[in-house]
Amino acid sequence: EKDGHDWFMRKEIFEQPRAVADSLLGRHARNGLLQLDEMRLSDQELRDIDKIIIIACGTSFYAGLVAKYAIEHWTRVPVEVELASEFRYRDPILDYSTLVVAISQSGETADTLQAIRHARLQRSKVLAICNTNGSTIPRESDAVIYTHAGPEIGVASTKGFLTQLVACYLLALYLAQVKGTRYGDEISEIMRQLESIPDQIAAVLSRADEVYELARAHVDTRSVLFLGRHAGYPVALEGALKLKELAYIHAEGFAAGELKHGPIALVEEGLPVLCVVPPRGRDQLHEKMISGIQEVRARGARTICLAEEGDTSIEPYADHLIRLPRVPVLLQPLVAVVPLQLFACELATAMGHDVDQPRNLAKSVTVE
Ligand code: M6R
Repeated sequence: EKDGHDWFMRKEIFEQPRAVADSLLGRHARNGLLQLDEMRLSDQELRDIDKIIIIACGTSFYAGLVAKYAIEHWTRVPVEVELASEFRYRDPILDYSTLVVAISQSGETADTLQAIRHARLQRSKVLAICNTNGSTIPRESDAVIYTHAGPEIGVASTKGFLTQLVACYLLALYLAQVKGTRYGDEISEIMRQLESIPDQIAAVLSRADEVYELARAHVDTRSVLFLGRHAGYPVALEGALKLKELAYIHAEGFAAGELKHGPIALVEEGLPVLCVVPPRGRDQLHEKMISGIQEVRARGARTICLAEEGDTSIEPYADHLIRLPRVPVLLQPLVAVVPLQLFACELATAMGHDVDQPRNLAKSVTVE
């Protein structure tokens, strides 16, 4: 049942190329247009939307943070991302022109369910991104994009997260198509890039042993920091959550630019810092990330850098380098999170923890 793997989680990590491919299947029609079968909102309803609020918990919340970068960039519609547990207690401003997007792998998370009930009472449309057919959240939503990860059994979400990212990109591109903020050729080009991701994830997985060796060298570590920028920032948060959940060690993710505003005080000799390095591009993200890495290194941190193939400029600053395939910055989370999942899974295994059933956690959290 675990396909020869020791844990469901590891099996699910290795299923990710297929899960991503399945979640893209049938969405890109021959005429170049995107189609989302379960998008029960009309083009006119979508054109009327002038604000999006994404609500979710845990790993699904981090998928929402990535979605914000993609939706705002491709559609110019403002996006807020909010923890479902906070949403209805702050009297959020909602009306019929607000689209609320609920992201939930299980479709049963109580905080998220209560949040969408609140949104619908305020006349907002609710779209669910969900992996579980017929579960409560999609049943109570106006529209749904199902992810096709297959059942996720490990308590730590892995393939659920990657397929949520895919659904978020699809939603962003579909909105861009309907609202006319991006044109056919560009959308088709991004779809082609997405369609190449399963092979790129497989390439990352084929080098799992390198990550495992690195993880096993950290069994005595008590604290790890994760740094990222732009779409790599939620990846840093997710990498840290995986480590907390599975290895029970203190782990925190930061936006690299925020370091000097406080967190750099945590850095001491030998502290492992995992850095998600953005692809080189015309923006200054890459250079800015390198200066953040230099700052922590100058204070004794040991840097483990995830950087794209061919990026030699990172070499002087990396104590350890994990190579990523070359993909655009907005899509980089799909490949960058995979080594972090492998790292947490292997480190927890080496520490003797139960990876599939971490202490104090349940697969779906059905109480508020
Ligand atoms: O089923 P959901 O996506 O609504 O679950 C949300 C969180 O409870 C979930 O992502 C949790 O953080 C996982 N244990 C993360 O690995």
